[in-house]
Amino acid sequence: MPSYKRASGVVCVYADYEAVSRAAAELFLRQANEAIKDRGRFSVALSGGHTPQRAYELLAGPPFNRLVDWGRVHVFWGDERCVPPDDPRSNARMAREKLLDHVPVPPGQVHPIACANSAKDGAQSYESLLQSFFDGGPKRFDLVFLGLGTDGHTASLFPGTPAVLEKDRWVTEVYSEKDEIYRVTLTAPILNQALVLAFIASGASKAEVLREVLTQRPESERFPARLIEPDCHGGKLYWLVDRNAASLLET
Ligand code: 6PG
Repeated sequence: MPSYKRASGVVCVYADYEAVSRAAAELFLRQANEAIKDRGRFSVALSGGHTPQRAYELLAGPPFNRLVDWGRVHVFWGDERCVPPDDPRSNARMAREKLLDHVPVPPGQVHPIACANSAKDGAQSYESLLQSFFDGGPKRFDLVFLGLGTDGHTASLFPGTPAVLEKDRWVTEVYSEKDEIYRVTLTAPILNQALVLAFIASGASKAEVLREVLTQRPESERFPARLIEPDCHGGKLYWLVDRNAASLLET
C-alpha cells in the first residue's frame, strides 16, 4: 500500500473500498487499545454519510467486536442532521444500525447530537456536554473519523458558511443548502485538537476534490477540509483512500 507524506497528513492508498474500510476499522482498534491502556477510556467522533458504513459493519463483527473493550468506549458524532432520531438521514441512526446496536457500549457512553427540535439548542447542549466530558483533562478526542464531500466539506463544515470561520465554539449550527435542513457540526477548533484524525474517502467521484484539497493551497473557505490540520499537540492526520479516489494524485 503506497503512502505519501503531505503537508496535510499521510495519504494511505488502498486497493478498494473494502480495504479502506478494513484500514479504518484497524485504526479504530489501534487507537482504542492505546487510549484505554494509557487513559482508561477511548473517545471517538464518528462521521456520517455513506463512506464509513462498511468500516462500522466490520467493527461490529469478528474479530473487531471481540478485540475492542467496548465498555470503555465513548461515542460522539462529528455532525448530525437536525432530523428525528429514526429518520433515515440521521447519522446516529446509521451508526446504531451498522455498529452500536451490535456492540456493548454502555448507553450512557453513546452521545448522539439531539437537534431535531432546534439546531441552536442542540449545538449549545452538545458544546456543554463536550466541555464537561473533557473537563479536567486534555480537550481532545482520541480519534475522529471524517468524510469528504465533493465540494470539499467535511463534517457539516460547508463552504461559505459561518461554521467554517468559527474559531472559538466547538459546536455550531449550520444550514445545509444541499439537503435543505439544519445541521449541527463540530468545528475546526475542537476537531484539530484530536490525537488522530482520519479522513475516509472512496470512489472516483472524490478524486478531483481530493487532489484539490491535498495538492493545491486553496482558500480554506472554499475547501473546508483544508481547515483540518492537527494542532501543535502532536495530533496525526491520515487520509485513508482507495485507488479510485487517489487516481488524480501525482505519485
Ligand atoms: C454527513 C457527513 C459528511 C460526509 C460527506 C461525505 O453527515 O453527511 O458528515 O461530511 O462525510 O458528505 O459523504 P459520503 O461518505 O456519503 O460521500
